Amino acid sequence: MADTEVMAALAALEAHRVEIGHHRIADLFAADPGRAQRLSLYLGDLLFDYSRHRITDATLAHLIALARAAHVEEQRGALFAAECVNNTEHRPALHMALRNFSGKPVLVDGRDVMPDIFAMRDKLYGFARQVRDGTFRGATGKIFTDIVNIGIGGSDLGPAMAARALSPFVKKGLKLHFVSNVDGADLADTLEGLDLASTLFIISSKTFTTQETMTNAQSARARITSVLGEAAVGNHFAAVSTKLDLVGKFGIREERVFGFWDWVGGRYSLWSSIGLALAIAISPEHFDDFLRGGHEVDDHFCTAPLHENIPVLMALLGIWYRNVWDFGSHAVIPYDQRLARFPAYLQQLDMESNGKSVARNGASMAMATAPVIWGEPGTNGQHAFFQLLHQGTDVIPVDFLVAAEPIAADSHHHQMLFSNCLAQAEALMRGRSRTEVQALLSKQGLKQTAIAELAPHKVFPGNRPSSVFLYHRLDPRMLGRLIALYEHKVFVQSAVWGINAFDQWGVELGKELCSGLMPFVDDDQTDTSRLDPGTAGLIEYRRKLIAG
Ligand code: F6P
Repeated sequence: MADTEVMAALAALEAHRVEIGHHRIADLFAADPGRAQRLSLYLGDLLFDYSRHRITDATLAHLIALARAAHVEEQRGALFAAECVNNTEHRPALHMALRNFSGKPVLVDGRDVMPDIFAMRDKLYGFARQVRDGTFRGATGKIFTDIVNIGIGGSDLGPAMAARALSPFVKKGLKLHFVSNVDGADLADTLEGLDLASTLFIISSKTFTTQETMTNAQSARARITSVLGEAAVGNHFAAVSTKLDLVGKFGIREERVFGFWDWVGGRYSLWSSIGLALAIAISPEHFDDFLRGGHEVDDHFCTAPLHENIPVLMALLGIWYRNVWDFGSHAVIPYDQRLARFPAYLQQLDMESNGKSVARNGASMAMATAPVIWGEPGTNGQHAFFQLLHQGTDVIPVDFLVAAEPIAADSHHHQMLFSNCLAQAEALMRGRSRTEVQALLSKQGLKQTAIAELAPHKVFPGNRPSSVFLYHRLDPRMLGRLIALYEHKVFVQSAVWGINAFDQWGVELGKELCSGLMPFVDDDQTDTSRLDPGTAGLIEYRRKLIAG
């Protein structure tokens, strides 16, 4: 059962929706010339423009009342005070400590964790510098030109997304590769053409037990030993994990092993040693800027009043659409090719955190939780799924992300990119009425019958909400800010829904069943009659296909 105060606040929002539901966003703009300015917030040069939403001042007041009913500020306090917010795994969630530049201690069970964080970061930065300047080389003395990060989920998506986002900052001559899938094609295709003598593998796994990562790591190890000999493992592998004993067994030298702590969730771990590949690629100095961007957002999240708090508003707008308007998905469209993996990164962050039907106290959820998060960069999406965004039967709120200026890219291209982004936000909001369509077609000289036939297809309902994140340039600091904004958005939503955002039991059943099935897939003589009939049928058919 959800808290009665929260349910009452949601009921008030529901009644409010009935009251204002007929208002169109475009009309709200027309009635209020100051709307765009009023519904905009700044964090440094980052503008969060939330004016193109189905909201009035009264809506915002209701949403803030909901946040208060859910005790969001108190829950935020508990998060930052290292309370045991991850109640099913009995630990705090303290990724913010990894980017803490406040000079203040962070106490876990009465002990300041900051000295450990600084020490590990020093070790990581030292190693990153040695790889970058060629002090640390491969077994045959070659400088490393290629780094292959082997990990999955948070141990892959973060560094992979960020390395792409910050590609202009990557050291010249250094190439980063990411292998995640247990599909052998992933490793094979990545290693194709690589000179192993100048390749460094980083095994990234919080638990160092994840099937995909361990399988890929063993295969990579076998490749290195077959080409360069067993002794080369020490030179060609580094590891990032919380389980240092397991890493030791793999044969990686202690000085190339980088730890972190169980209070860092996998999907929040890019700020930790999991960022090793990124720190090597963009330099410790730029990695520090990235951390500072995250810290700025922590500061903002903790100090800005709720109605001026960007992640709080992002979260409340999401709840408005999910719980009151019943919209089931949310698109994130970066007008930035280098943010191509950002939507995938956010999928894990949001859907693994809040994709739950049970509240933190074990009760069934009385309301909908995380929407489906998805997206692709613009302008590519415009030529694919934007049709549905504009004219489909579902309304899908959109986050547009765009820089004022590109880094290391043509500015003429960027002017087109930027204009497209703004055009889409406006088109979604404004739409095009039947009367407008008819007038246009008539101007083009079409006959009345043709107009009548074509007009319905050319109508855009409009009134489709979006936020715009506009910033100067996508540099390490800005990327840090963007990620931390979404992290806190997810946290605020979990606080309102009463969810533990930091566990992920929903990934376990499939893993367990997979282990049970392996013997049947491995050995075609194993009797499948006691398996689930559907699964048995598929295994039998596979056997038939292979037998030919
Ligand atoms: O299966 C889900 C998950 O546990 C994620 O939460 C995590 O990011 C990923 O697997 C990888 O885990 P690890 O870093 O322990 O290999």
